[in-house]
Amino acid sequence: MSEQLTDPLRRAARIASVELSEILQISEAAAAMKKAGHDVISLGTGEPDFPTPPVVIDAAYRAAQGGETTYTATVGTLALRQAIAADCERVNGYKPEVGEVIVCTGAKQVIFNALFATLEPGDEVILGAPYWTSYPDIIGVCGGKPVVVPTTADSGFAITPDQLRAAITPRTRWLLLNSPGNPSGAVYSAAQLRALAEVLLDFPHVGVIADEIYQHICYVPFTSFRVVAPDMANRMLIVNGVSKSYAMTGWRIGWGIAPRRLIDAMVAVQGQITSGASSVSQAAALAALTGDQQMLAERNDDFRARRDMVRDALNQTGMIRSGSADGAFYLFPDCTATFGKTAPDGTRIEKDADFCQALLKSEGVALVPGRAFGVPGHFRLSYAYSRASLTEACKRIARFCQSLT
Ligand SMILES: Cc1ncc(COP(=O)(O)O)c(C=O)c1O
Repeated sequence: MSEQLTDPLRRAARIASVELSEILQISEAAAAMKKAGHDVISLGTGEPDFPTPPVVIDAAYRAAQGGETTYTATVGTLALRQAIAADCERVNGYKPEVGEVIVCTGAKQVIFNALFATLEPGDEVILGAPYWTSYPDIIGVCGGKPVVVPTTADSGFAITPDQLRAAITPRTRWLLLNSPGNPSGAVYSAAQLRALAEVLLDFPHVGVIADEIYQHICYVPFTSFRVVAPDMANRMLIVNGVSKSYAMTGWRIGWGIAPRRLIDAMVAVQGQITSGASSVSQAAALAALTGDQQMLAERNDDFRARRDMVRDALNQTGMIRSGSADGAFYLFPDCTATFGKTAPDGTRIEKDADFCQALLKSEGVALVPGRAFGVPGHFRLSYAYSRASLTEACKRIARFCQSLT
């Protein structure tokens, strides 16, 4: 037997393709440069720079003091699930039954639970590129096959109905949609979503996972897939959570809204992974959903102003082209005009990763290459950072572009 096969700690085949994500690699490279004394601005990671609202922190403290420190129901506390249903009615105009709501340890676990609970080996999941890097990995870990549909800036980074129809096979189980999208910032209009739903009406064996985690960071009207396709509610999972909207990434609370048969299957998975989300974090999320919601609009306006500032500055370089990116807190600009040029340190830029590496080396600005999201020739920039950092980063990027020969 080879040494590799006798290693009891060897990786299982199902996670063989899961690598450290390029986003983490860039963050680590930037952190190492910082540690070595370089002045680095990292615009690589995707979390709001706002603090968690103080009322939420107070509620968590009170919950812990009051004894909410034990396991909760695996599906989530009744109070939080009721609040999620009420919030959904207030924000989206439809009210799920409490039994159609599951609380998980972040939106990521909602997606994991659903795919783990439903995919047979080789089942296909359709997703558009650029995609959130975790999607293909989660699909793979759950035994499925990602079927990636390329999209372009010209089509607003949206899957078209024809593309969807062409991608569906008898093995397709899910269409995985993300709007507003990470990393593109693209938002599907109600008409675009309905057009996809019309295609799916011809394929009753395909369900929809609509990841709407960036719902409250959106500068054009947001439409939930569930609202445009109530006729498909019996095969749909809506994913949402407090991580991005309420600046609560570390609290790890997300939720899914789906028919009971899927919720029950997800509970079966969750029961063997975490037993349920943290009790204190669930109390915190309850406070977020039942507290003052004005903050969401204020933060949204703030993000929009930062988006405008950075997008305009990038477009002014003449070498980087950024579309409108109507939601989430990312820009996904095209950097192909820099290809074929040489950076001051001698690096010849042939691809997006070269651009990002040379920029990090010469100007200390960390961005993530588009290839990590399945669309080379671009990079992702998160503008969820202070205006001072963004202004300085834009200055450095412009200087870098000017220095290319
Ligand atoms: C599109 C998308 N979905 C889900 C998540 C995960 O959210 P959570 O932190 O609640 O697990 C992220 C986080 O970056 C994301 O970008």
